[in-house]
Amino acid sequence: MLTPEERTEIEAEFPHYPNRKAVCIDAMKIVQKHRGWLSDEALDDIGELLGMSSTDLDGVATFYNLLFRRPVGRHVIYLCDSVSCWIMGGDQQRNHICKRLGIASGETTADGRFTLLPVVCLGACDHAPVMMVDQDTHRDLTPEKIDQILEQYD
Ligand code: FES
Repeated sequence: MLTPEERTEIEAEFPHYPNRKAVCIDAMKIVQKHRGWLSDEALDDIGELLGMSSTDLDGVATFYNLLFRRPVGRHVIYLCDSVSCWIMGGDQQRNHICKRLGIASGETTADGRFTLLPVVCLGACDHAPVMMVDQDTHRDLTPEKIDQILEQYD
């Protein structure tokens, strides 16, 4: 069941869209903000309010890479693996992150601090290689810069 807070936040989006189904991405973002990720139960809860099946919501959630259908760490590292970043040494930066955190791409650290996910172009190709940590974009990555950045997150 949606919490009163989740329901209120989702319903506040209704006036901005032509129908309830169009609110689905915002609704999933809101529930994810409160619960950390989108379980099957979460999709059922959202679907009940929006008049959508959890299968329909799952299709949207798995297409949209900022919605998580599995638990993630407290911070999510989105490392660009598109062409400009690859040319500028993205593989080396990924290897550095994996080695430093002791995880492979797609995994979460044992302490639940970070999840590392590959993403397509983050739109800052002129400053490749690029990653985002949560909402913050970090450009012109080097191993030293990555170390400094990751130390900022608890
Ligand atoms: Fe990495 Fe565009 S290719 S930001």
